[in-house]
Amino acid sequence: AVVVVVAAELPEAAEAAEPGEPVEGPEAAVEVAEPALVPVAEPEAEPVPVVAVEQPVAVEAAPAAVVAEADVSVPQPPAEPAEQPVPEAEAEVVAEVVSEPESVVPEQAPEQAPAPEPEPGAMPEPGPVSEPEEIPAPARSAPAPGYDDAEREAVLRVMRERRDIRNGFRGDPIPHEVLLRVLEAAHTAPSVGHSQPWDFVVIRSAETRSTMHELAQRQRDAYAKTLPKGRAKQFKELKIEAILETPVNIVVTADPTRGGRHTLGRHTQPQMAPYSSALAVENLWLAARAEGLGVGWVSFFDEREMVRALGLPEHLEVVAYLCVGYVDEFPEEPELTQAGWSKRRPLSWVVHEETYGRRALPGEEPHDLLQETVANIRPLDAKALGEAWERQKRMTKPAGALGMLEIISAQLSGLSRVCPPPIPEPAAVAVFAGDHGVHAQGVTAWPQEVTGQMVANFLGGGAVCNAFAHQVGAEVCVIDVGVASELPATPGLLPRKVRPGTADFTTGPAMTREETLAAIDVGIETARDLVAAGNRALLTGEMGIANTTVSSALISVFTGVDPGEITGRGTGINDEMHARKVDVVRRALELHAPDPADPVGVLAAVGGLEHAAMVGLILGGASLRTPVVLDGVSAGAAALAARAIAPESLAACIAGHRSAEPGHVAALNKLGLRPLVDLDLRLGEGTGALLALPLVQSAARAMHEVATFDSAGVTEK
Ligand SMILES: Cc1cc2nc3c(=O)[nH]c(=O)nc-3n(C[C@H](O)[C@H](O)[C@H](O)COP(=O)(O)O)c2cc1C
Repeated sequence: AVVVVVAAELPEAAEAAEPGEPVEGPEAAVEVAEPALVPVAEPEAEPVPVVAVEQPVAVEAAPAAVVAEADVSVPQPPAEPAEQPVPEAEAEVVAEVVSEPESVVPEQAPEQAPAPEPEPGAMPEPGPVSEPEEIPAPARSAPAPGYDDAEREAVLRVMRERRDIRNGFRGDPIPHEVLLRVLEAAHTAPSVGHSQPWDFVVIRSAETRSTMHELAQRQRDAYAKTLPKGRAKQFKELKIEAILETPVNIVVTADPTRGGRHTLGRHTQPQMAPYSSALAVENLWLAARAEGLGVGWVSFFDEREMVRALGLPEHLEVVAYLCVGYVDEFPEEPELTQAGWSKRRPLSWVVHEETYGRRALPGEEPHDLLQETVANIRPLDAKALGEAWERQKRMTKPAGALGMLEIISAQLSGLSRVCPPPIPEPAAVAVFAGDHGVHAQGVTAWPQEVTGQMVANFLGGGAVCNAFAHQVGAEVCVIDVGVASELPATPGLLPRKVRPGTADFTTGPAMTREETLAAIDVGIETARDLVAAGNRALLTGEMGIANTTVSSALISVFTGVDPGEITGRGTGINDEMHARKVDVVRRALELHAPDPADPVGVLAAVGGLEHAAMVGLILGGASLRTPVVLDGVSAGAAALAARAIAPESLAACIAGHRSAEPGHVAALNKLGLRPLVDLDLRLGEGTGALLALPLVQSAARAMHEVATFDSAGVTEK
């Protein structure tokens, strides 16, 4: 068994330890200059056989130092931490990480670092560094002028300062001429074929507003019932409409028949009619902002119910229900961001050059997602880490009495750069599903179709991971990164198939390097989506018949342990099949001779699509300073690959559980991670990580809620 020692960025000399406190070994103080997590062998614990054959640290890609003889040790904070914490790390995380490109890049450095993302609410940075290519054309005259600086700034300002408002409305009436200006602005919107498909129904009647309020309330309740507990708690606090508090409500409709059957541009895309009306809404919203009027868009309606309640013609589509009124103030940030419900996605995530995936802001060279992500992975923040240890000492409990949970809460502080750290809630388990060509070798008793069938089960809510997620209040997010069969579109399924299953790695590489990188990107993008959607913890999950064979191969490559020692019985196989499975792994390793220094190459040769995606999730989570709770053997294999790509990604990892698969023990030892739960589980799907989630949340909550000796008036020892 091993224990994780959390070490910081730029640590300095350790403070003198107090009596009874765990003491950091001297080696750690010397060696922790770079690594985020330093695995430390725990000598008095049960010896684990694979430790004996572990590769010497010197040949590892990771800079982490293994301190073989140390006691169970917990590092002390550096005397004067070098890095400042970010006080509101939560709201800023997404935007902020983009501006820190100077971290470790293991392969080659990107040709050009991405430009920093403008702070939300700030003016955009000056224009592109290189001039856009000119289209050769006879120069006749100067192009039509844009606005002067002040006018342009006014236009940009109104866009920046437009807010969706639900709180702080005033009852002041809206003068007719003001409302008229706002409606005129809406009416100048662009529209498909100039069909101008909108109508505006201006509602002032208290009775109608009360009817609409009741309809919205019913939908709110119905929506709340669908939420995982972690989300439902947050949602309860949110205000989602101000129908009764605003003097004017405006219904914006779209007439899909307006302009007749030959409306230009609507021929193949009927949705252009409601899109046009949505543009009218944006115009209205901006004009209202310029008048000092707040607007709140309410979409908690059943459309047909609404059409009937308002007596609208049946052929109309309702595009928007808007609450309009004067307000006390316009918040700088979206109300959902302020409430911690969501985060702003940086512009650099969504601008592609020429083809999708070549991300680049104008004037930048396109950069690849993996390089950008790795560049943003930072060590734990020394100051927050130091504060966490200090706080643990002052909490009303004997020093060290929370054992491993103290280490977790310090890690969470260092990761988030704040102490106490945010409670990792809401959380989402990302279940990546993929099939494996090596299934053909008879390494499992289960038919391959079960992968797709289990995906349907996850989406239907009937699997063990659903039950555990329900219990702990987490969201289940299912990603098809490589299931062999075609899966029907289903709510909750992210269709991200890179290829329909890997090839049989006993006869050739499992996949190409490009496919491997694409699967890693799927994981990174999943991490980005889940974190931007407000999740504060990511859990790894996976489904893929035959994937323990793949995990064994990966673990063998990264740990150097013989396949015979780490290849387990997966879903339960007999001796004969087990012997074949070991032989299959052995043959694959002989065929490919994968080089652990080239982790992407290892994944391509003997990996799985879900393993590569989990690598991406770990790297993505680490780059967004969000904890990643690892599940079992496949997550362990992925974490080894992630560490080989970016050693500091381990700073975000928490081992949820120890699987019954022998390979998992080898992986955890190599990673230096101590599992929180040890129940002989061998299911996957994220089940072990889900069981561990409340422990991780408890570690953070204790930091928030446990009194200190001073505050509680308790005498110290
Ligand atoms: C199509 C659409 C529907 C929306 N529906 C709701 C809603 O029902 N309730 C709500 O509180 N906000 C709603 N909003 C507002 C968004 O939550 C808001 O635009 C987003 O959080 C960003 O904040 P900002 O508009 O202040 O920048 C809606 C916005 C749009 C564009």
